[in-house]
Amino acid sequence: MNIRTEISVLVCCLVFFCLSTSGSPSNGVGSEVIALMGIKSFLVDPIGVLENWDEASPDPCSWSMVTCSADGQVIGLGAPSQGLSGVLAPSIGNLTNIQTVLLQDNNISGNIPSEIGKLSKLQNLDLSNNNFCGQIPTTFSHLKNLEFLRLVTIFLEKFLLLWLILLTFI
Ligand SMILES: *[C@@H]1O[C@H](CO)[C@@H](O)[C@H](O)[C@H]1NC(C)=O
Ligand SMILES: *[C@@H]1O[C@H](CO)[C@@H](O)[C@H](O)[C@H]1NC(C)=O
Repeated sequence: MNIRTEISVLVCCLVFFCLSTSGSPSNGVGSEVIALMGIKSFLVDPIGVLENWDEASPDPCSWSMVTCSADGQVIGLGAPSQGLSGVLAPSIGNLTNIQTVLLQDNNISGNIPSEIGKLSKLQNLDLSNNNFCGQIPTTFSHLKNLEFLRLVTIFLEKFLLLWLILLTFI
């Protein structure tokens, strides 16, 4: 090996090292990918807005409808008015850094997953104008950072907020 190949091997190793450390932030991007793929698998997506959600390109920050923080954590999921139906997967509870979930004006049905109550950083949640049924999970009373919550129609929302406020005192 002459000096030149040695240097290029070194540079290659360095680049590889940098890529491999920056590409896998310690804080579980892997689990966020799994959670998002779980969400995708339970939704029916007629327009294909979730088409680029793909385990083969495992950087969720490059996926549509997903917002990340500067350090690559998934902090937002926003797909309002995209004709989505199907159900909201419980794996949403594994997006531990998420602050905003906006899925209003779709056709998502089934229960609102109680796992949302695990999302301690959640500040904005809008699930209004879907076809959710069943009760508001009592786990929602754990959402201490919630600033904005819209689950159904404005009228019912006021009633439910009262109920949630009551729950937090029980
Ligand atoms: C929701 O589904 C109903 C019936 O399945 C359909 O008539 C309606 O257009 C859908 N709404 C949206 C916003 O996709
Ligand atoms: C959340 O993640 C944990 C650990 O990776 C896993 O065991 C669990 O099944 C996940 N929960 C859901 C609802 O996907």
